[in-house]
Amino acid sequence: MREIYLVESVRTGIAKAGKSSWFTNLRADDMAALVMNELMLRAGLEDKKQELDGVIMGGTALINDMAGNIGRYATIMAGFPYSVPGCTVDRFCSSGVQTIFNAVAEINMGWGSELIIAGGVQHMTHVPMGTGSLPNPRFNEFTDMNASSMGWTAEMVARKYGVSREKQDLMAYESHAKAHKATMEGLFKDEILPIEVEAPQKDGSTQKIVVDKDQGIRPETTLGSLAKLEPVFLKDELSTVTAGNSSQTNDAAAVVLVASKEKCQELGLKPKMKLIGYKAIGVDPAYMGIGPSIAIPLALKQAGLTIDQIDLWEINEAFAAQAVYCTEVLGIRNHPCLNPRGSGISLGHPLGCTGARIATTIMHEMPYYGAKYAVESMCVGHGQGVAAVWEWVGDSPF
Ligand SMILES: CC(C)(COP(=O)(O)OP(=O)(O)OC[C@H]1O[C@@H](n2cnc3c(N)ncnc32)[C@H](O)[C@@H]1OP(=O)(O)O)[C@@H](O)C(=O)NCCC(=O)NCCS
Repeated sequence: MREIYLVESVRTGIAKAGKSSWFTNLRADDMAALVMNELMLRAGLEDKKQELDGVIMGGTALINDMAGNIGRYATIMAGFPYSVPGCTVDRFCSSGVQTIFNAVAEINMGWGSELIIAGGVQHMTHVPMGTGSLPNPRFNEFTDMNASSMGWTAEMVARKYGVSREKQDLMAYESHAKAHKATMEGLFKDEILPIEVEAPQKDGSTQKIVVDKDQGIRPETTLGSLAKLEPVFLKDELSTVTAGNSSQTNDAAAVVLVASKEKCQELGLKPKMKLIGYKAIGVDPAYMGIGPSIAIPLALKQAGLTIDQIDLWEINEAFAAQAVYCTEVLGIRNHPCLNPRGSGISLGHPLGCTGARIATTIMHEMPYYGAKYAVESMCVGHGQGVAAVWEWVGDSPF
């Protein structure tokens, strides 16, 4: 395997999708173009865009302003030379990390790609979940027809594995508290590109604001306020999944720069992280939330590491029901560096962007927490799990 590194990363703030989204008036492709240009600037390559061998953008529900091969479209809208090609990758909630794996694999082939932007973008205000999908009526020959509703699958995981409402709400409470604390301490400042937008106001007007933080964090969250929320997906006496212990729907973009060792040396780029393990697995779509509990041990095996060697984790909180299950099974629920700055419930889960958002956050967290190894993982719609293992190489000599 060639020596391949992640050298830089940046993301937008994460807007809460809906009529009050800070990014209502910002297109998905423009959002992606903004972070791509900022990435090149931060890497000192703003005048060397022709050096790029490609852009790989993650996203799902690829219609409206997410359409038209947004990986290529955003590359044009970013003003990159026509010679820089772009493509779009869809693995639902893990698209944004799948692109990083694809970039590493492409560079590893040694067929002329040495420098690639990988990332993810999702605009769930412009393309709400489920828009444009046409479920196959034969789906229920293979699994439960309801398995296309992620919230329903969260209820299935909670019921099968006995994840109580109290455990789910505790994770949700902790998520908001950690994300709020990190925001107040300015810990996201370096990873977020401030963007000026015309944000919608309650009276229907718009106002210019600079988005430099995440919109969905609820500092006022208490266990008491969470306990009052009614279940939203299933509504019988066993139901436990609420708006409070589910991830939000969001608008955001995040990108990372992936380069071979030789390209780093040629352009004077400083490596920060290295992908040392990656695994995507499949499970019954009805229990999609358990995906990380299977993907993580396999990715760790690939990296030659064990769970106790991991210093920092982000297990995406698609739903507390599944995140509690996975972290309990792996024995990391009480790890001191598990989702230290929150995750999908508090920061948000902009589907195709999330994998790149997490990689970006981890790149900024690793030196702060003195982490040598980190893992990101998420469950993925229609029954998958993905895990990536990162090694910090920022202290290496070049
Ligand atoms: C769960 C879901 C349907 C909720 O959507 P929503 O109704 O727009 O969510 P809101 O943020 O408006 O919250 C709904 C209510 O819960 C309350 N609430 C949410 N989080 C809360 C918290 N932390 N504390 C207290 N109340 C909270 C809100 O105040 C709101 O109450 P209101 O109606 O009285 O204003 C939506 O976020 C969703 O679909 N999430 C899952 C997305 C998904 O499946 N992703 C893929 C994963 S694989």
